[in-house]
Amino acid sequence: MGQETKWLLIIGIYFIKSCEPFFSFDEAPLPSNSTEDLADYSNIDTRFSVRTAEYPDDDFCYLVPGNADTFSQCGFVMSAPTFLVIHGWSVAGIFESWLYKLVTALFEREPNANVVVVDWLERASQHYPTSAENTKVVGKEVAKFINWLEDMKYPLEKLHVLGYSLGAHVAGIAGNLMSNKVSRITGLDPAGPRFEHAEDLRRLSPDDAHFVDVLHTNTRGTPDLSIGIQRPVGHVDIYPNGGTFQPGCSLQSTIKMIASYGLQNMAQIVKCSHERSVHLFIDSLVNREFQSWAYRCSSKEAFNKGMCLSCRKNRCNKVGYGINKVRTTRSARMFLKTREMMPYKVFHYQIKLHVFSKKSITLVEQPLLVSLYGTTAEKEGISVTVPAMSSNTTITFLLTTDVDIGELLMVKMTWERDSYFSGLFSSDEFMIRRLRVKVGETQAKVIFVSRDREFAHLSQGGGEIVFVKSKEDQVSRREERLHRLKAHGSFFQQNTD
Ligand SMILES: *[C@@H]1O[C@H](CO)[C@@H](O)[C@H](O)[C@H]1NC(C)=O
Ligand SMILES: *[C@@H]1O[C@H](CO)[C@@H](O)[C@H](O)[C@H]1NC(C)=O
Repeated sequence: MGQETKWLLIIGIYFIKSCEPFFSFDEAPLPSNSTEDLADYSNIDTRFSVRTAEYPDDDFCYLVPGNADTFSQCGFVMSAPTFLVIHGWSVAGIFESWLYKLVTALFEREPNANVVVVDWLERASQHYPTSAENTKVVGKEVAKFINWLEDMKYPLEKLHVLGYSLGAHVAGIAGNLMSNKVSRITGLDPAGPRFEHAEDLRRLSPDDAHFVDVLHTNTRGTPDLSIGIQRPVGHVDIYPNGGTFQPGCSLQSTIKMIASYGLQNMAQIVKCSHERSVHLFIDSLVNREFQSWAYRCSSKEAFNKGMCLSCRKNRCNKVGYGINKVRTTRSARMFLKTREMMPYKVFHYQIKLHVFSKKSITLVEQPLLVSLYGTTAEKEGISVTVPAMSSNTTITFLLTTDVDIGELLMVKMTWERDSYFSGLFSSDEFMIRRLRVKVGETQAKVIFVSRDREFAHLSQGGGEIVFVKSKEDQVSRREERLHRLKAHGSFFQQNTD
């Protein structure tokens, strides 16, 4: 772990040194207020490439604001939904490989849609502060383009703008300047430096479209140094894996990538978590049967204790394309865990238990191994670190599985030694009567009891303890149903028949 941190520091320093201006903290200036020239279509440098499903990677035909002939020339369908994709900062000045993958996925999900790629590569391949500043002029040109679409009677409720990194702020600035709002803007890890503390007009914000949803995937570090913006900037802001750093983007994966792609690909490696936002969206487009869900929570810490798996009152939502357009007054932070590769979906479980002991024990950072057995599959040996375990307290933690185990039937648990010596000579032991399990994806709540005796004995470095579904739980549910029937009067009617 120490070694890994050191490596990441070296890589981080390399990255900072190679693009020093990335990290300066003046805010981007306000977009100019001159709306009168928004109808002037001359001198628009930004290009609007209409892509096709057959050649998702190639630019054949550009829509030219003010020239209505380009609609038919490019095969743009006025009655079809349109995706407008805006790229971000580009070190190399070329489209990155995620772009054609996203275009392909959009066509796979919506074969009849128009997919238009906004090309501002020239202005996006400057030093970071210059490119960040350019979001202002590019945003204005995108606003002109969208105003023109509207003038040509294209329905804006069919327009979905997707912006990655700096492109998310281009979308936001355009949203501010347009005469009318588009249906939706999706921000894919909107850029952080120079935007974290910027006012609404200079960056993506909820008032830029009828619905604004955001995926935050690389928000590590202090706010000014974070590559992705940390604050919520949409109606729904989703922070996969806490939003800081993504699984599969660790040093081990990094070293593998260096081995296969060489050091010149460093920027690509550093962007792994940043770009994950795009791949999570692609996943939601193409893997419909593996729809990920996110859960509203006050903090990452509370989420990691499994305390936020509720779906009541819009507390959970679909991740990505199929999101429910819930607009709350205050933006909602939502969380989920993911796998390290596509499909990213995992199943979330909260395990809650009360640990008893006669003697007073207080331990921190205790490693547990938990196995879940369900009707269709099982997942064994899931490791969890419980931050604190002390006598006669309730502990709660989050578990995830990448397989759908069906309905949960049995839980096994062992308490590992936290070091070689601990537990060898001590005999710390807790007694557990029952587990309460809540499943995010099904909203099921089930009580499990010790299989072999009233209390299971969980001892450090000791054997496995087994819990099965409680009969008492089934009884209490029958009672609950009877109670409901009674309350509605039908119980007595049924009995007097
Ligand atoms: C900017 O626009 C607002 C509202 O349209 C207007 O009140 C203000 O005077 C404008 N500012 C400048 C500098 O033109
Ligand atoms: C925990 O609770 C049990 C039963 O209520 C009690 O017998 C035991 O002494 C308590 N342990 C501690 C350390 O307070």
